[in-house]
Amino acid sequence: MGLYRAVVQPLFFALPPEGAHRLANRLLGLPLPWERIGGAEVDPRLELSLAGIHLANPIGLAAGFDKSCAHLGALGRLGFGYVVGGTITRWPRAGNPKPRIVRHRSRDSMVNAMGLPNPGAEAAARALARAPGVGARFASIADEALEDALATHARLEPHVDAIELNASCPNVSWGRDRDNEAHLAVLLRELGARRAKPLFVKLPPFHADVERQVVLALARIAVEGGADGLVCSNTRPVADAGLAVGTGGLSGRALFGDTVRIVAEVRAATDAACPITACGGVFTADDALACLRAGATTVEVYSGLVYRGPRILRELTAGLAAAARRASRDLGTASAT
Ligand SMILES: Cc1cc2nc3c(=O)[nH]c(=O)nc-3n(C[C@H](O)[C@H](O)[C@H](O)COP(=O)(O)O)c2cc1C
Repeated sequence: MGLYRAVVQPLFFALPPEGAHRLANRLLGLPLPWERIGGAEVDPRLELSLAGIHLANPIGLAAGFDKSCAHLGALGRLGFGYVVGGTITRWPRAGNPKPRIVRHRSRDSMVNAMGLPNPGAEAAARALARAPGVGARFASIADEALEDALATHARLEPHVDAIELNASCPNVSWGRDRDNEAHLAVLLRELGARRAKPLFVKLPPFHADVERQVVLALARIAVEGGADGLVCSNTRPVADAGLAVGTGGLSGRALFGDTVRIVAEVRAATDAACPITACGGVFTADDALACLRAGATTVEVYSGLVYRGPRILRELTAGLAAAARRASRDLGTASAT
């Protein structure tokens, strides 16, 4: 963490956010010892099954970091339990005009209005087929029209362990200006008849009570529709004058308080019917533990990787392994007394 914060992060942060991201992607294309760079702890106590998928640890890479699914192999080798590629749509998308990412360094946060730029399902499927993954890999999809969503799902599912349905992107009409509940129900019904692998649904966050009702309703619909897991949550919609389009989604530290609360509330609202992934502002092992204690099965990070660097994998996995060791020691002590 020290070397990254002292040397590498200042170099990345001297570039505009998308320039830094392109550089990171270029580096990920190099044959570097990614396992050692991430340094994740390998410990059987961290292993788990998520909807039947074996994971080496509960830390996932959130969608949006590798939008083209070109570097999931290197990212997996950093030590993530799983990596999510995309979000992918059926047809290629250029996304919104730039600037479309703003860093807020003092808050360890970012606001993005990328608008789902991606190479399309065909190119993503070819990238996935070319490079078999290390560990589990999922693809995030988010088409607006039903037939496009079905086509994207069909094209990508054979190449991944699971599909994450992005029912929450603030930069397309999902999560904004239509009847999301009805759309999600239809989509899950249609995908349910076709899918062969687990399907997760990524929900929007909520802060105010009116949003809370909407998101909890979506969570229940997802569970009733057969989703194998829920991801809580995507970014929080905010205004940001630094973006060309003026509004975007907030990521990072600023989300963390909401993340823990949302996981607990969604779990209660769905009667713990399926596993929940916590996503939003996780930077430390204590953050990850708080999410797991609130009822999450896995934890995804994005901003933490940007602000803390790849050694965040070491910190998170070592912290979780130490907590698991303490818990089994305490259990041993309790049963001995
Ligand atoms: C630049 C950027 C692009 C993102 N793109 C996507 C995306 O394509 N699909 C998606 O589901 N989430 C996307 N996200 C949201 C993240 O997956 C995650 O939900 C969010 O950043 C909160 O996690 P964090 O606080 O660890 O960053 C994006 C986030 C950022 C910062």
